[in-house]
Amino acid sequence: MQKLKSLPELQKFVKEQRGLGKSISFVPTMGALHEGHLELARVGLQKTDICIPYIFINPKQFAPTEDLASYPKTLEEDLQKLSSVNVNAVYLPRMEDVYPDGFVTSVKLGGVALPLEGEHRPHFFEGVATVVAKMLLQCMPDIALFGEKDYQQLMVIKKMVNDLNIPVEIMGVPTVRDFQGLALSSRNAYLNNDELGIARQINKLLSRMGQELRGGASIAEIESRAHKSLLDAGFDKVDYITIRDAQTLLPPDKNTTSLRALMAAWLGKARLIDNIPI
Ligand code: PAF
Repeated sequence: MQKLKSLPELQKFVKEQRGLGKSISFVPTMGALHEGHLELARVGLQKTDICIPYIFINPKQFAPTEDLASYPKTLEEDLQKLSSVNVNAVYLPRMEDVYPDGFVTSVKLGGVALPLEGEHRPHFFEGVATVVAKMLLQCMPDIALFGEKDYQQLMVIKKMVNDLNIPVEIMGVPTVRDFQGLALSSRNAYLNNDELGIARQINKLLSRMGQELRGGASIAEIESRAHKSLLDAGFDKVDYITIRDAQTLLPPDKNTTSLRALMAAWLGKARLIDNIPI
């Protein structure tokens, strides 16, 4: 596995591989890698000849009050994990490769970026979209892979790539869960054992929302029961737990063809998000 430690090194590697006729997949990450990330890399390797994950903790997607300083940093373990799934190279950009002095440009979003995370973390998607747009343009892969665990992020990136004609296919990969259904997340590292037990109830609660809907309950009733269940389970604060149109992430209407249950809630130091199709 080659370590590409700067933008020129990435571009040299990509040029060589393109010269050999290789197709390329790209896996954006902020490190603290878990099975979910490795699954993205495995799918990438199935779809293309070469897979390049990148690791870059993007300061622009953290608000000043958020966990940028304490975000888990596990570079040595990350490199071992990536090498164990046989990716061809990993891109480790320097800050100046991404945000050189004087950098002022950002991607302004609307639509699917506005509800849910957009309401609770208003800075977030602009930071994500800006870094992902930059990274895609730096690498110009055929495919970039994102986990469905961050479902709204996946939808935002698909829309951005479409709107800006960035010639990359954005591929969503189903959420990887632990043996009790907890969605794998780098922020699970913040949870103690008791909190892990509480967090493991999320998936059951989301599934129950689907069952209740199929049983004829109203969305308002289901959402308010689910909200209370999260608090009863031990969550400190619920940002949202809701049933939305899977395309717009707005409340379902007559044009809705598929639904998604999504949640975000605080447990100790961790803000956990999850979602399932229902
Ligand atoms: O999902 C993440 O880890 C980040 O938001 C991403 C896509 C790597 C952009 O920094």
